[in-house]
Amino acid sequence: MPNRITTFAEYLDEYRKSIDTPEQFWADKAEAFVWHQHWDKVLEWNFAEPSVQWFINGKLNITENCLDRHLLSKSTQPAILWEPNNPDEAVRTLTYAELHEKVCQFANALKNNGAKKGDRICIYMPMVPELAIAVLACARIGAIHSVVFGGFSFKSLSDRIQDAECSIVLTADGAFRGAKDIPLKSVVDEALETCPSVKKVIVLSRTNVKITMVEGRDIWWHDAILNVSAECPATIMDSEDMLFILYTSGSTGKPKGVVHTIGGYMVYVDYSFRNVFQYNDGEVYWCTADIGWITGHSYLIYGPLLAGATTVMFEGIPTYPDAGRFWNIIDKQQVNIFYTAPTAIRSLEAFGLEFVKPYSLNSLRVLGSVGEPINKEAWEWYHVNIGKENCPIVDTWWQTETGGILISPLAGITKTKPSYATLPLPGIRPVIVNEAGKILEGNNVEGRLCIEFPFPSIIRTTYGDHERCRSNYFDIYPNLYFTGDGCKRDEDGYYRITGRVDDVIKVSGHLLGTAEIESAINEHPDIVESAVVGYPHDIKGWGIYAFVVCNTHRPDTNALKQEIIDTVAKYIGHIAKPDKIQIVSGLPKTRSGKIMRRILRKIAENDMANLGDTSTLLDPAVVEEIKAGAIH
Ligand code: PRX
Repeated sequence: MPNRITTFAEYLDEYRKSIDTPEQFWADKAEAFVWHQHWDKVLEWNFAEPSVQWFINGKLNITENCLDRHLLSKSTQPAILWEPNNPDEAVRTLTYAELHEKVCQFANALKNNGAKKGDRICIYMPMVPELAIAVLACARIGAIHSVVFGGFSFKSLSDRIQDAECSIVLTADGAFRGAKDIPLKSVVDEALETCPSVKKVIVLSRTNVKITMVEGRDIWWHDAILNVSAECPATIMDSEDMLFILYTSGSTGKPKGVVHTIGGYMVYVDYSFRNVFQYNDGEVYWCTADIGWITGHSYLIYGPLLAGATTVMFEGIPTYPDAGRFWNIIDKQQVNIFYTAPTAIRSLEAFGLEFVKPYSLNSLRVLGSVGEPINKEAWEWYHVNIGKENCPIVDTWWQTETGGILISPLAGITKTKPSYATLPLPGIRPVIVNEAGKILEGNNVEGRLCIEFPFPSIIRTTYGDHERCRSNYFDIYPNLYFTGDGCKRDEDGYYRITGRVDDVIKVSGHLLGTAEIESAINEHPDIVESAVVGYPHDIKGWGIYAFVVCNTHRPDTNALKQEIIDTVAKYIGHIAKPDKIQIVSGLPKTRSGKIMRRILRKIAENDMANLGDTSTLLDPAVVEEIKAGAIH
């Protein structure tokens, strides 16, 4: 393994090299991996199309780099330490040798069920080791995985399966989440009514809930691996072949299938993992994210395994059986590096210190934060009560589209400042532009965050719709990748992310499109139209406020509101349920019919003094009615 950065001076030096000679810089990092054929050229790119290619004509398989490469030195080291939802159930440990064996065996099972290189395989599973095995088994045979978070409903699942034309779905009978059992298989059954591309469903037995198996289509996981060989040579892939698709919300109702390819993603997630967390051989690392999100892909599975780390995987939720569960696991597994989301920190803070006090937490060395801005108060609480003022906090900024962390302190090396993601990693060239796209030079500037040069793990396309990738990310400001985030660079050149500037909201760290929520609400037969905006929420970061116009014969009752909530849960999932619903007689619109969300946002934020000019509205009176009925 190449050395990692160990001092701030080295960081500055690496950063300079990465800017002066980016191709040499990344080629040096890539040399550390197993390639079946060396690349001909490091990089070709053009943001106008966009087209980005790294390690051109390089041939490899990422699972050889995650698993086989470590077998000589780490075969008995735990690769995955799995903590079940129920603390009374046994912990499972998979060593590198065992994980390798299980991945190879399941890869053969996939082949036996018709999977081929390039096929898309949808994974809709609980947080159990078989989920990690499933992901790696796909990569082993060159199938493209599309993991869908288990909290999504049948409609979100079927949309994603249809979009990627998946031929196989991997699932379980159910999932344990806190005190609940989630019926995954029945959600799959409902989704598949509209997914003709799916030929096989492989079902893991987890909750033992009664399910129906469709003859000829459905097969139990344990039957699929019965007497199957655990030897499976890795399929040799091109560096720019697709590794996975991961859907993320955008400003339209339809989620975007973000595509990452193999070589660049591998090099970048390994490099960023080792440097940001300053991982030392033998340490125990725990990322609490679900594998259904990019954080789980890059920093629960691929990054740690590429680095030969021991990665903890947790099936449950932070508050089950009580709000001390995270701290309990940290002591029990002697976790050294802990990576979680601000929402989790804020909600555990609200439960009080009596849930923290029973635990020593003295194994911890580094703390991480991801997914949304971490406010000063949560940062301090995390620093003082969890890190005991001894652990650097890495506030890592990145996105599904970037594949890896782009702006973050390097633990213990970069001086931190609460609520700042601080400085770009080597290879990352952030720029801040104003709304017109003018690059704002120097320090003390605020605007929109863009990246002006490709890094190895940048999004390659949106599946099946390259134009959408171009118009969403590369066309708004020519020759720049636009992140959708607002950002400030302070007097020290430190970056602070101020939040989204588009129509998506971060609710408990989950990115949701307001249009997506509106179309779910509009599925209710009595709803005429709706407008959804975010409002600041103490725990979730942002809450969902829905303004809803319904048929005149439906009175504004709690029953109606509950039906709206149920409709959203049914069409998207529980994560998108509105926190506040205000039934209104009309929405503020311009004369051309455009909903004035700016006004609704101000009302939701209870900032009535700054509604701006409402005189150009079609019906200014509606604003007064909405203001009068606003829920605060
Ligand atoms: O708005 C930023 C916010 O999360 C968005 C990306 O969301 P997603 O694709 O779901 O990926 C989340 C996990 C990487 C960003 O555009 N975000 C992410 N990390 C931070 C953040 N906002 C502030 N600070 C962060 N550290």
